[in-house]
Parts: sequence; C-alpha cells; structure tokens
Amino acid sequence: MTMKQPLTITKMKKMKQSGEPISVLTAYDFPSAKLAEEAGVDVILVGDSLGNVVLGYDTTIPVTLDDIVYHTRAVARGAKETFIVADLPFMTYRLGIENTLRNAARLMQEGRAHAVKMEGGADIADEIAALVRAGIPVMGHIGLTPQSVHQLGGYRVQGKLDQDARQLIEDAKAIEQAGAFAIVIELVTEQLAEKIASDISIPLIGIGAGRGCDGQVLVYHDILQYASPYRAKRFVKTYADLGTVIRNAIGSYVADVKSRTFPQEEHSFPMDQEMVKQLYGNSSAAGGTEA
Ligand code: KIV
Repeated sequence: MTMKQPLTITKMKKMKQSGEPISVLTAYDFPSAKLAEEAGVDVILVGDSLGNVVLGYDTTIPVTLDDIVYHTRAVARGAKETFIVADLPFMTYRLGIENTLRNAARLMQEGRAHAVKMEGGADIADEIAALVRAGIPVMGHIGLTPQSVHQLGGYRVQGKLDQDARQLIEDAKAIEQAGAFAIVIELVTEQLAEKIASDISIPLIGIGAGRGCDGQVLVYHDILQYASPYRAKRFVKTYADLGTVIRNAIGSYVADVKSRTFPQEEHSFPMDQEMVKQLYGNSSAAGGTEA
C-alpha cells in the first residue's frame, strides 16, 4: 500500500498560489480521523467544537487543554499521514507568552499535533510570533470566534459594519505578519472573506465565509448529521444522515433483543457434541440433541 505524503505548511501556501482549494474537516477520535484520512481530507482540525458535538456542552468555553490533548492523541493514531491542527482552548493563551508556549507544546508533544489554532487578531499577534519562533506552526482564527460568544452577543455574522470589516482585514494582516501559516475565517460575508483572501499570502480557510476563500473547513458531525438533536446551519452542506441511520439501527437491535430475534445460531458458539455428551449425558437440557 502506498503511503500518502502528509501536507506541509509550505505545500499549503503553494496550494493557495496555484488556486488548489484546501479541504479541512474536524475529527475528534480514532474512527473519525481514520475515515477522514481515507476520504482524502487535506487537514484534520481537532477543534474545540469537541465541546459542542462530542462532550455535550452549549459552548466551547468549558473545553480544557487536557480534553484537546486526549482527543488529538486519538486522532493522531487514526490519521498517521494527515496534517493535524489542534485548538488551543479558551484561556489557554492570553495569560502570558510562557504559558501559551507551554500549552501549545503539550498539544504537539502529548497530542502529536503538527500545528495549533488560536482565536483572535492583532491582539494575540505577539503570542503567535513567539510560538512561530519556537517552531510551532500557528493557524489563526478570526470572524466569529466561538470562545468569545458571550462578548460577541451570540453566534452571528461578523464584519457587517464598515469599522468591523476594516478591523478584520487588519487582524488578518497582523496574524500573517506574526508568522501564522493559515487563518480560519468564520461566519463573515462572502465579499469580506474574498477581500481578505486576496490581501494576504497565506491560505484563508472559510467556514460560513462563502466561495472566495482558499479552502473550507466544516465540522464532522455537521456534514454527517451525526448528532442528536441535529440543528441545520445555513453554511453547512450535509452529505449523509448518519443520525437517522444510527438511531434506526440501534432501535432494530433493541427490538431484536426484546423479541429474542437476536442472537441466532450463526451468532453463537456451539460446543463439540462429544463434550456435550460428557457434560450432560443424553439429556437435552443444554440444548443438545439426543444422539
Ligand atoms: O472548533 C472548531 O471546530 C473550529 C472550526 C469550526 C473552524 O474552530
């Protein structure tokens, strides 16, 4: 079997230059990572959306560094040939550069991530620069930054006002200047994302940011409707309805157990007839047949 060449940050930049879109998908465990790799995803993001779609929180805020380390390790075991980015969760940065460096190092050493992602703009440029100097590739994240959901007043489209749009353009430039290799832009108008993509030389990866980005990222559970309850989002295209498939399959299993339709003979392990005789004589008490 030929091994796929994992992507590098240099190749991602070349993809932008040649106009080849970059596909990014989140994954949180061994099977989701394995399937994403087998399907040919360019980059796997172990996002702190983990909190919403796997851990059952309302926001990403309760997600801890330990959570991301644990899940990134599982992803790395499942996708050995894919470039993996792991999220720095809420307040695991912004508390001093030494703290940021230590936390990012854990994602790479213990989690086996190739890069880290952090939310923020010009305000975290010095932290991004320090990570890059230490050899840690950084992906920025601007626009809707879910870790600031309470400050932003909800999950709504960003950069609609002139001043906000200008700030996002400045943020993207500051992140590029600080040495990040790519930026995620979430929930902004298509025109703004397109403008930012053309203003910077590093790949801009969109989610709910329209068609003008250099790549797209979506959440595993969103594209597969693998959540319960499932909430449709305008910017998500769903490719399968796993939630319904799984719920129906489990329902059939429960019904089979209740009706004793499962297990059948083919699911059971028969004992050698001689052994049956030794144990039970000629009685059919153990389900054995009379010789
Ligand atoms: O946490 C996450 O999955 C993300 C993506 C939505 C970009 O940040």
